[in-house]
Amino acid sequence: MRIDGHTKLAFVLGYPVAHSLSPAMHQAAFAAAGVNAVYLPWAAAPDRLAAAVQGLHAMENLLGVNVTVPHKEAIVPLLDGLTPEAEAMGAVNTLLAREGKLLGDNTDGAGFLAALREALGCEARGLTAAILGAGGAARAIAMSLARAGACRLVLLNRNVDRAKRLADLVAARHPGCQVTAQPLRLNSKITEVAEIRLLVNTTSVGLQPNDPHLFDYASLSAPIVVCDLIYNPPETPLLRAARARGCPAGNGLPMLVHQGALAFERWTGKPAPVQAMQEALGI
Ligand code: ATR
Repeated sequence: MRIDGHTKLAFVLGYPVAHSLSPAMHQAAFAAAGVNAVYLPWAAAPDRLAAAVQGLHAMENLLGVNVTVPHKEAIVPLLDGLTPEAEAMGAVNTLLAREGKLLGDNTDGAGFLAALREALGCEARGLTAAILGAGGAARAIAMSLARAGACRLVLLNRNVDRAKRLADLVAARHPGCQVTAQPLRLNSKITEVAEIRLLVNTTSVGLQPNDPHLFDYASLSAPIVVCDLIYNPPETPLLRAARARGCPAGNGLPMLVHQGALAFERWTGKPAPVQAMQEALGI
């Protein structure tokens, strides 16, 4: 890698950020596509986010930024505008530098749909899906599935009022999709949710080795496709249980690659070297 006076800068902005795989993935992409840029982790505490965004505004050689936890929603009012995707998600995972302005974009939903198709052979159109969780990640997944033509979504969450609020939000934007909310309990059986073809975990449960189960995993059966957005550990207890019961199952790495590939394309105008990005993540 050669750094010179023309080198552009890209970052992942989060807190903490040391665990992020994005620097390795994007630097490999820049090398493979011959883009003269460096991609660095930028740890900014929540109370320094406004100062960080001000600094970005002053950076004329900025190529782009990825935004991660916990800044995806908090950064919205600090930007000059949002793309329709970011507006629908109420969250930003990518910043675009356009004529001195910082535009918030969101590639999480489209990245999820691309990963679903590529890694699990699952198309959103006409789908009935269960989504576990009702936070920002659930909103991105639910909005993107509804927008891509899913016909029914069931939002399952420990706090069912939160799931109801999200269901109302998604249904208001996508009247063609039936969206309902149900409580998520340790003894909930997935078979109680009729004709589910896809189950997506958007909660943080499974990140820690001693996390409880989210529902009765023994109720999983083929042909339900199971997707866990967690990628570290690579196989959560949910994915292990799904595979043991013959369900096609995949973790969040393909989504990480595809949301990153879409950001790369928006920053550089070049096709993303997806294979190099996958190799950088060991997939
Ligand atoms: P994100 O923006 O990443 O989606 P979040 O807004 O903090 O994160 O949401 C985390 C999700 O994980 C929520 O749906 C949360 O459920 P509650 O709304 O009931 O809090 C869910 N979650 C976290 N810990 C959980 C646990 N131990 N059991 C079940 N759900 C859990």
